[in-house]
Amino acid sequence: MSEISLVHEHVAASSTERYAVLNCGQLVTLAGPARARRGVLEMRELSIVENGGMLIANGLIQYVGFHADIVRHVDRQTKVIDARGCVVTPGFVDAHTHIAFAGTRANEFEQRLAGSTYQEIAAAGGGILSTVRHTRQATEETLLATVQHYAEWFLRTGTTTLEAKSGYGLSLESELKILRVLCALQETLALRVVPTLLAAHAVPPEFRENRTAYIALVTNEILPQVVAQHLASYCDVFCDEYAFTLDESRRILTAAKQAGLGLRIHAEQFSADGAVSMAAQLGATTADHLECTDARGIAAMRVAGVQPVLLPASVFCLGRSRYPNARAMIDTGLATILATDFNPGSSPTTSMPFVMTLACQQMKMLPSEALVSTTINAAYGLNMGNKIGSLEAGKAADFLIHEFRDYRELAYFAAVPNLPQVFIAGKLRNTAPQTTPTKSIAR
Ligand code: NIG
Ligand code: FE
Repeated sequence: MSEISLVHEHVAASSTERYAVLNCGQLVTLAGPARARRGVLEMRELSIVENGGMLIANGLIQYVGFHADIVRHVDRQTKVIDARGCVVTPGFVDAHTHIAFAGTRANEFEQRLAGSTYQEIAAAGGGILSTVRHTRQATEETLLATVQHYAEWFLRTGTTTLEAKSGYGLSLESELKILRVLCALQETLALRVVPTLLAAHAVPPEFRENRTAYIALVTNEILPQVVAQHLASYCDVFCDEYAFTLDESRRILTAAKQAGLGLRIHAEQFSADGAVSMAAQLGATTADHLECTDARGIAAMRVAGVQPVLLPASVFCLGRSRYPNARAMIDTGLATILATDFNPGSSPTTSMPFVMTLACQQMKMLPSEALVSTTINAAYGLNMGNKIGSLEAGKAADFLIHEFRDYRELAYFAAVPNLPQVFIAGKLRNTAPQTTPTKSIAR
C-alpha cells in the first residue's frame, strides 16, 4: 500500500506563508524515534520544550526550539501566532471512527437504560442494521452534509486526522457511496481523512439466510471496486459472535490483503475468541476494541507488531465495566492507540479529550501515555507517522493551542468544553476563544 495515498495532498500544500508560533508554555513535541512509542518508558517521554516555539512554512514545521531562538528568526514577512503561555500539542489523530451514518439511535439508548443489552437490540433488528436502513436511504449529498456536521465536532475538540469506516451500507452501491462521501469530506473540510472499508460490519438482512453469498459479494465485488476506485486504504471486519466468525473474517481480510489494503479488525469486544491471534497471523496494522483480550492475545500482538486500538468511550457509553487491559498492554511493551469509535450505537462521542479522561480514570493510563496514544502512536497506526503525530521539522504543522498550562489537564478536566485553537497544515481551522488559563499549582 502506498503511504497515505488517499490523503489528498492539497491539505499540506494549502499555505505558502511563514508563521512563528511563540510563547508555548509547554511545547509537547513528542519528538522521538521514527516509529510508534512502545512500552512504559517510551510512552511517558513527551519531549516537552518549556517556553518553546516553532517556525512554519508551506504548511510544514521548519524548526522547533526555544521561544527565544524562534524570536530571532521573526522578520517582517513572518506572521506571529501567540500561544500565550499555553500548552501546544500535535493535533489529535482519531484512528477508529464510524462517522458516516444517517440517523441517531437515542431510542436504543433508552432501551439499554431500561435493561436491554446491545446484543439483544441488534438481534431484534435494531443496532447496526437500523443505522444501515437510514444510511441506505440517505442521498450522497445529505450524507455528506451530515458527516460534515460531525466532522466540525471533531475539529472543535482538536482532531485533525480521522480514520473513517464505511459499514452502514452493506451493499455494493451503498458502501461505495459512503466511501465517496468520506473522500469528499476531506476535500470540503481540509480535515485529513483515512477511509476504511468495513463492508463486513454486519450481515445485511437480505443475506441473513445466505451468509456465504454476502462474503462472496464483499470479496468478489465490493473489495475489487473499492480498490480500483482508490476509495480506501484499509479493510476492517467486525469479528464477533453477532457479526462475522473467525473463519469468515479471515477470508475477507486475506482477500483484502491480497488486494493491497492494510488490515484492521474489530476484535474481542465481547469474548476472547482468538481474533487477536488471527490479526497477528495476518499482519494486521491494528486490532481494535480488545475488552476481553488476555495475555496470549497481548503476546501475539507484541510478536507481530500489531498496534492495539483501545476504545474506552464505547465501554463507557454501553454502560459496561470491562475495559481493555491497557496497563498489561503498555507494561508488556505494546504501542497503544486511543480512539473515539464514534458511532450512533456504542460510542456517540467525538471527543478525544474525553477518551483520554476515560483512559486515565478507567484503565489507569497516565496522561502522558494517553497523549502519545492519541497522537504519534495513532499516526503510525494509520501509516502516517512520518507526516503527522508529532511536532518535528519536516512534518505537517497540525497542532493545537490548548487553554491549559499543564498538558495533564487535558485528561484531568473531564468533559468540559475546553476548545483548543486548531491548526492544520499551519492554517487556523476554527476560532476558539482565546482566554488565559491559570497556572497549575504544582508540576
Ligand atoms: O465499534 N462493534 C462494532 N461496531 C461499532 C458499533 C456500531 C454500531 O453500534 O452502530 C463499534 O462499537
Ligand atoms: Fe468500531
